[in-house]
Amino acid sequence: MTFDPVHPRMPAGFRWSAATSAFQIEGSRQADGGGRSIWDDFLETPDAIVDGSTADPACDSYRHPGVDVALAAGLGLDRYRFSIPWARVQPDGAGRGNVAALDHYSGFVDRLLDAGVTPFPTLFHWEMPSSVEAAGGWLSRDTVHHFADYAEIVADRLGDRVAHWYTLNEPAMMTLQGYAVGALAPGKQLLFDALPTVHHQLLAHARAAEALRDRGAAQVGLVNNHTWVMPLRDTADDHQAAALYDVLHNRLFSEPLLAGRYPDLEALGLPPMPVQDGDLAAIAGSIDFYGINFYNPTTVTAADPVGPIPFDIVPTPGAPVTGFGPEWPIVPSALRDLLIDLHARHPELPPVIIGENGASFPEPERAGRVEDTARIDYLTGHIAAVAEAIEAGVPVEEYTVWSLLDNWEWADGYTQRFGLVHVDFETGERTPKASYDWYREHIASSRATAAGSEQGR
Ligand code: BGC
Repeated sequence: MTFDPVHPRMPAGFRWSAATSAFQIEGSRQADGGGRSIWDDFLETPDAIVDGSTADPACDSYRHPGVDVALAAGLGLDRYRFSIPWARVQPDGAGRGNVAALDHYSGFVDRLLDAGVTPFPTLFHWEMPSSVEAAGGWLSRDTVHHFADYAEIVADRLGDRVAHWYTLNEPAMMTLQGYAVGALAPGKQLLFDALPTVHHQLLAHARAAEALRDRGAAQVGLVNNHTWVMPLRDTADDHQAAALYDVLHNRLFSEPLLAGRYPDLEALGLPPMPVQDGDLAAIAGSIDFYGINFYNPTTVTAADPVGPIPFDIVPTPGAPVTGFGPEWPIVPSALRDLLIDLHARHPELPPVIIGENGASFPEPERAGRVEDTARIDYLTGHIAAVAEAIEAGVPVEEYTVWSLLDNWEWADGYTQRFGLVHVDFETGERTPKASYDWYREHIASSRATAAGSEQGR
């Protein structure tokens, strides 16, 4: 059978999804007794957000949950990935759950189930309660226990209907952007002293996963954002710089989960992880699936002169770019390459879920139909890359578009639009883009092809 990149054949049962996160879409930040999170604090920092915006009202989704559910169901999604904000559930980061917030998410889960879409929540998409951060945040081992308590509270309320959970979203971004360079909340600039946050997040995930399984969860995992790292030049220095970046962005987060060990940090001149007895065994046994977010590859060169960070990230030669410019090159084959490489490194890879993939492009602010062919091309290329990886034996079971809706893109405020649905942030009006119709048709035809090939056996 020849491989058709426009309509790649996915295995029967392959699942399709789309994602959002609470802080980026909900607005009504302190409604129902919600507490402050590190993002409420960070967005008040002068110059932290490029357009000076706040995440209120964003898509105003907290007040209009039914509208988003209808859009998710209209696509024919198998699952919808959304997040539950810790600071709404535990406003002070500790103690009993906030009943009004738990009622809200319980109602949201019911709406999804009524619409035939499986709820797939994320427990931590970066909104740590400010009080937990004040006590050390992910730098402190105590946060592991606080996070497990929070997971218990949510599972006690939703676990009778929610069977599939993501614990953490992109721990690498928390560590690198949040604690090492400070481009995202909590805005710390600790460079390599940020590394304990890796271990505490992975351990928190493992402890939360135990709590979720004790309450009936069928599938628990986390989602790591991976990049395919390429040296700029074929020189020993650039290869060394690329290898270090690969460890910091990818392997620090994948290897404890998939192989029960950290990469050799000492050999790279990095401080050791604060590992205690039993930690690595708990982390290694903690996932039922491996979540991967992928957006772009990263080209790295040795820094000159050598400063505190021995590498520079540079534009990828010859690659087209998204609305972020050269920072976000478009190279779909990089997703295939990283999936195949991960599988080669870890032949026992559990089922893989692509938890986010998508792109932003400059689009109008006011409501109206958007013919976003660049996004359709981006998604087509990356889905084909996933199909090629599956053909090569990588066990990918699910693909998720980021994002269902245009939303508040963290430090980039409202300047980047990733949605299949356009949102006018002044009026709240939602208009499906051409990519929404394309994805709906893609899902339907992929299911029909898979069903046809099953029958033909
Ligand atoms: C995050 C999303 C974010 C997206 C695009 C991912 O890193 O999980 O919250 O909006 O990338 O930047």
